Parts: sequence; structure tokens; C-alpha cells
Amino acid sequence: MAGIDAMLDGGIPEGNQVILAGGPGAGKTLLAFEYLYRGAKQGEPGIFFSFNEDADSLLRCMKESLSGFTDIDELVMSKKLMIFGYEETKTFMQKGSESTNYAFTGMISQLQSRIEDYHATRVVIDSLSYIRSYTKDPFEYRNLSTSLVVILSRQHVTSLLTLETGPGTDTAHQEFFIYDGIIVLGTHGAGNQILAIRKMRSANHARAISQYKITKDGLKVTPSQAAPAQ
Ligand SMILES: Nc1ncnc2c1ncn2[C@@H]1O[C@H](COP(=O)(O)OP(=O)(O)O)[C@@H](O)[C@H]1O
Ligand SMILES: [Mg+2]
Repeated sequence: MAGIDAMLDGGIPEGNQVILAGGPGAGKTLLAFEYLYRGAKQGEPGIFFSFNEDADSLLRCMKESLSGFTDIDELVMSKKLMIFGYEETKTFMQKGSESTNYAFTGMISQLQSRIEDYHATRVVIDSLSYIRSYTKDPFEYRNLSTSLVVILSRQHVTSLLTLETGPGTDTAHQEFFIYDGIIVLGTHGAGNQILAIRKMRSANHARAISQYKITKDGLKVTPSQAAPAQ
């Protein structure tokens, strides 16, 4: 993803677990999907775990929005690009007994086995905000998100985990330090969409903010001054 890769001095380092934060409609799901799509084209299998949309409508929506990517179906058919939607991920969450966090250890092992089955090297979790709504309290969420990051790192996958931000959302209990990177999509002034890399371990990333546009060929980032000279 040329513009973002330039901001990251090459791209997201392998094995990083990265939060992709932004308000509703910012383009988190689209960006995350494009990340998997481009990986799949290079022969890197990717899995999209959606906790809030069913797989068919997610795929339909992505094909409509990213109509310039004409080979999405082929990548899905050849299992280079896997989508697990709400109807499946909700079964990952089913409660064991009230007193244990069985449901979440179950969820993590389900994610783990899908990653192994498809030899995925790229993973998307859409969204942390939705997973959080299943937890009883901040401590449970903290345990869950920490285990999630540990497991993903152990599996040597590179992940984007989306996080809904903005008015009415609470990020107070987000343990930002457990993630290797934070990419933020936001707005500035009259509808200007802006992208910032707040943190990215093992990358000499740009500090400046760039503008972006959503197009049928993916996210287009306007090169910022801080992008490294070619
Ligand atoms: N091809 C496109 N060109 C411009 N805008 C688009 C296109 N496809 C989708 N959008 C816009 O992208 C937004 C949806 O992005 P999405 O990734 O679902 O957001 P988020 O996951 O952050 O809530 C909507 O506002 C939609 O109007
Ligand atoms: Mg979304």
C-alpha cells in the first residue's frame, strides 16, 4: 500500500500486532481488507475475522467499494484470503460457566487453529470494540486483549486490530502499550481525512500526518513531507 508503506519506511514490520483506530466510517474495515488483499496477491495467506458482520455481506461490500480489485473472488476461492464472519466468530465466544473466562480462552484457541489451518501470515480482527462489549469488566478485557496479542505474536502473524474511537466510545481501558503499533484514521477541518502513525516498533516511521482518500482502488495517501526520499 504505497502511501502507507512510505510513511512506515517500508511497511508494517513482520510480526507486529497493530491497532487501527478511527471513528465510524473512517475506512478501518476497508484498509484492513486491502492489507489482506495485497498480501494474498503476493502469496501471503490472510484471514479476516469479523465480529460484527456476516462473511457474505462483508465480502459483497468490499467488492462494491473496492471495485478496482477484480480478483477478490479468485483469492477467496484459492483460500489465500479467508473471511470468517459474525455467524462463525460468535460461536468462538460462547460462554462456558459464569465463573470462568472459558469463553475467551475458547475464542483465542479458535482463532489460533484457523491461523494454523490456513497457514495465515496476515490477520485482521474487526473489531476490538466489539470483542470488548462481550467482556464483563476492564480486567477481563485486559486479560483477553493481552492473551490475544501474545498468541498472535507467538504465531508470527502480522495483524491489524480495529478499534472504534470518537464521541461516545471509551478507550480509557485500552492497553495501548501491549500493541506494537498504532495507526489512527481521523478527520481534520472540513472533511479532510487524515492518517497518522502514532507508534510502530522496529520501523523508522513518519511523524507527520498525511491525508487520505478512499477510492475503488483502495486507500490513497497523499505523500507527506516526512516520507523518506526515494
Ligand atoms: N469506493 C469508495 N470511494 C469512496 N468512499 C467509499 C468507497 N467505498 C466506501 N466508501 C466509504 O467508506 C466508508 C466505510 O468505510 P469502512 O471501512 O466500513 O469504515 P469503518 O470500518 O472505519 O467504520 C463509508 O463512509 C463509505 O461511504
Ligand atoms: Mg468497520
